Order: sequence, then structure tokens, then C-alpha cells
Amino acid sequence: MTRILGIETSCDETAVAIVRDGCDIESNVIASQIDLHARYGGVMPEQASRAHLRAILPTLEEALASAHADWSSLDAVAVTHGPGLAGALLVGVNVAKGLAFAQKKPLLGINHLEGHVYANWLDAVEAPDFPLVGLIVSGGHTDLVLADAHGRYRRLGRTRDDAAGEAFDKVARMLGLGFPGGPLIERAAQDGDPLRFRFPRAWLEPDTWDVSFSGLKTAVLHGVRDLGIDTDHATPQERLAKLPVADLAASFQAAVVDVLATRAVRAARVFGASRLVLGGGVAANRTLLKTISERADVQVLCPPPALCTDNAAMIAAAAYFRFRAGERSTLALDVEPNLPIA
Ligand code: KG4
Ligand code: ZN
Repeated sequence: MTRILGIETSCDETAVAIVRDGCDIESNVIASQIDLHARYGGVMPEQASRAHLRAILPTLEEALASAHADWSSLDAVAVTHGPGLAGALLVGVNVAKGLAFAQKKPLLGINHLEGHVYANWLDAVEAPDFPLVGLIVSGGHTDLVLADAHGRYRRLGRTRDDAAGEAFDKVARMLGLGFPGGPLIERAAQDGDPLRFRFPRAWLEPDTWDVSFSGLKTAVLHGVRDLGIDTDHATPQERLAKLPVADLAASFQAAVVDVLATRAVRAARVFGASRLVLGGGVAANRTLLKTISERADVQVLCPPPALCTDNAAMIAAAAYFRFRAGERSTLALDVEPNLPIA
């Protein structure tokens, strides 16, 4: 049995978890900063670092206590070292290094995006199989990857501009919905007509796996303007009162989902994947999962919504397979804010 303590502080969640054998969650504690950033309508990097500093030790204590774990029963310390906000990552990496040194435990630096893929191993009825195509859709990233074994990835495509989650957050603001936008758009879209507005899908060149959401975002902006909103000055209340928010949200969501589903399903087919796995905050979107599941010829796996968004259990899960393969980081581990998945 291998028990790994995972730490995640790459963006706006301070998270610590303990996971057994890469799949059994013994504790999974998340201190969210959503209330802090909601006031500004987005993540404020400086505020995020300070909030991580305040939250990290209580979060660690709670994760140890709720797993009834003491240090002698832990095999390694894993931490997200990129990609993410530099100052935020530093908090987790420094705490992890201090703990590994003081407790004489192996240290593993983990890629946050790899963590999102490994959320699919947590509490899984059926563990994913290789080769797999992974669609990682978060607030900062939109990557399509092919993995033929643990730790062996090839990035097939990515967004050329906005990440999928970023597009949800920006459009939510245009509609007066608040932050974070993804869940609010999904909820508003439930009562909306996805066919009312014909928003564009950017298919780019035929031979690319890349996606783009900036044209869609601009189309929504123009649509909102055409409906009589002064997009520079209108308050959220004015937007909500004047706009057909449900139909706009549903039509926007349909466009994002159509593009992501088309790319992911085709990649799984072309590369002969045995599984299509989703991860990242946007994978919490049930319309995305439903659409991909309906269109795919292979089994589609997606973590429960709470494990799609940022957490530390996924970091401990990813670390387990690297630990088992003999990988270790040194105490020279540094943050890598722009670390790619592959
Ligand atoms: O993975 P994540 O928690 O943090 C990053 O690594 O970025 O993803 C956060 C993003 C936000 O942009 C948020 O609006 C989006 O995921 N998101 C959603 C949903 N829940 C969260 N987007 C669409 N539908 C959702 N239900
Ligand atoms: Zn994330």
C-alpha cells in the first residue's frame, strides 16, 4: 500500500489530499478563494498567493486529521509545480519541500494538467486504459493529448487563444452572471434555446487539432450589443434584465461543446484510443459530457464534477504512478508557471 500526500496551489484553491494507491481518496480538503476573487470578477494573483499562505497549514492539518494519517504512514509528498500562477505555485512547492525535508519523505513535482487527467483514476469503477485521448479543459488550458502509457503524452492540439473556461468566464460577465462563469452559464442554459443564436464554430485548418474561442467570444459580444446593451458600461443588473440570458447562455455553450466534442471524438477515432477521458473545470459541464458520450465510438470517462475542478487528490493520484516507476524530484524543485503537458 502506498499513501501519498498531495498539495495543490496553482490557482485559486488551496488543496491538500491523501490518496492510497493512486485511486482511494482518504482525505480531500479544499479551501476555495472564490468569494475573495468574485468581488473582482476574476482571479487576482497577488491576493491568491496571500490567501494560499493563510490557508495552507490549516488545510494540511485537516487533510492529515480526516485521513487519520500520521507522517510515519505516508510514503511521499507530491505537489503541483506548474503550470499556474508563479506566486501561488511557490506556496505549495515551498511547503512540500519543507515537509519532505523535515519528514524525510520522497518529493514529487507534478504537472497540474497531468493531475486533471488522473482525476479519472480516483474512486473509479473502472480505471482508464491506454492508449487514451485526453481532453483537458480548464480556466487556463484547453489541450487535447494522446497518452500511450503512464507519463507518456503527446499534445495533439490546444487553444490558439482563450481557454474554454476563460471563454465561459468572459461570456458570463457579458451576460451579467458573475464569477466563476462556467457553472452559472450551465445553470442559465438549462432553460434556454441553444438554437436561438447561431454563434460561429471556428474549425480552423482541416489538418489541425487546435481550437479557438476568441471569434465565438466576439460574436457573443456583438450579439449582446445588438440587443441594446452598452457593453462598456452596463451593470450586471441591466444585462440580466434586458438580455435573453438563458438563450444566449445555451447558444454559447452549444458552440463550445460542439467544437470540443468534434475534436475529441475524432481524435479518439483517428488515434485508435481505447478510452476518451475528460478533465479540468469545464469537464464538470454535463452538456459537454453528454454530447461527447453520445458522439464517441469509445467509452468516455469523466470524473464527478467536484474532481473536475482543482483539487489535490488528482495530484496525489498522478504522483502514485510516477512514484511507482521510481521517479523522484530533488529539493531543487522549482515552480514552472508555463509548464506544458507535453
Ligand atoms: O480546472 P479548474 O478548476 O481551474 C484551472 O485549472 O483553471 O477550471 C476552472 C474553470 C473556470 O473557468 C470555470 O468557469 C470552469 O472551469 N468551469 C465550468 C464549469 N465548472 C467550472 N465551465 C463550464 N461548465 C461548468 N459546469
Ligand atoms: Zn485546473
